[in-house]
Amino acid sequence: MKILIINGPNLNILGEREQEIYGSKSFDDYFMQLQFKLKDVELSHYQSNSEGDIVTALQEAKQTFQAVILNAAAYTHTSIAIADAVRAISIPVVEVHISNIYAREKFRQKSYISAHAFGSISGFGLKSYELAVLSFLELDKNE
Ligand code: DQA
Repeated sequence: MKILIINGPNLNILGEREQEIYGSKSFDDYFMQLQFKLKDVELSHYQSNSEGDIVTALQEAKQTFQAVILNAAAYTHTSIAIADAVRAISIPVVEVHISNIYAREKFRQKSYISAHAFGSISGFGLKSYELAVLSFLELDKNE
């Protein structure tokens, strides 16, 4: 199974930013460990700080991938364009957050994406990504 992880703004500086919330590991390091652990899955990773680039990545994902894991970061709470793109694509998208957005500031408790995602995983630290991959593998088994 080919799965694309799309990360939004400021997730390129994981390990540096707000370590008390997001931890001290960079995404690249985590991603390498994840690829090593889940050898049967073809994982790819794309990160952008730009809303339009994330929309384009979502639109193009179906050409190569069977599923998408999306952490739109701050755009989760603001972007109707990304929500529309999630709604429009035919492959399943699981929304992921490192922190528990429902236990944080009021403005983070609203996600424009959740209603269009296949499901949402929030608050398990970087493990949220692994849980999202495992959820796709489980779904694949049950099909
Ligand atoms: C985040 C939560 C967002 O509110 C925040 O803007 C992020 C990261 C998370 O993974 O916990 O950048 O999506």
